[in-house]
Amino acid sequence: MPQDLRRQALASVLPQDYRLDRLGVTIRAAEPSDLPTISCLRSDEPERARRRLDSQESGHVLYLLALINNLPVGTALLHWQSITRVPVGASVSDLYVIPQLRGLGIGTQLLKTSEALARAAGLHQISLAVNPTENRRVRHYYERLGYRDPGGQTYLNATYTRVDENGNEYVFEDWVVDMVKRL
Ligand SMILES: CC(C)(COP(=O)(O)OP(=O)(O)OC[C@H]1O[C@@H](n2cnc3c(N)ncnc32)[C@H](O)[C@@H]1OP(=O)(O)O)[C@@H](O)C(=O)NCCC(=O)NCCS
Repeated sequence: MPQDLRRQALASVLPQDYRLDRLGVTIRAAEPSDLPTISCLRSDEPERARRRLDSQESGHVLYLLALINNLPVGTALLHWQSITRVPVGASVSDLYVIPQLRGLGIGTQLLKTSEALARAAGLHQISLAVNPTENRRVRHYYERLGYRDPGGQTYLNATYTRVDENGNEYVFEDWVVDMVKRL
């Protein structure tokens, strides 16, 4: 079913947003031929993009792209089986829109498309993880879109090497909470 959705049904579940139509934004699953242009999104993107495409090919995820003129401007990764600590339903990770085009509704469209696809696949719940201190604004954004904190513990999702304003590398710990939405 998820593979069928990827190939045929995406258009039928896409939520309508006339603002994005006017901007020429389309949403579809990534293809291997997108790799060169996906790679321009972020510096660490090429390797991650290849892994996501492999995962999509084996049926674990749907790798959604928002595109303008067939150039990627945003991504979302829909996992058919949750990868958060909420065990039931689908989950979304790697929601990202290029800084120049934020605030136009593209992130919302990627998220709503993920929800519609999960619903169409017969799933009744979707979850995502957010860092509530680093990403307070995004947490409120998810709340506005109907996501709720089920009261779980904050947990260490990943550690990344970052560079501070003085050029010094440091290890950033991404402590997150899960948020859930009924579909
Ligand atoms: C979160 C994100 C995907 C939202 O995409 P978007 O296309 O800007 O979102 P929309 O236009 O649909 O909605 C706008 C909301 O996004 C959030 N947002 C976060 N950063 C933003 C920014 N720099 N500019 C505009 N909106 C931003 C805000 O909550 C905003 O609503 P508000 O202005 O009322 O607070 C995008 O801001 C992004 O890529 N951020 C960096 C990566 C990230 O934090 N991802 C989420 C990890 S949990």
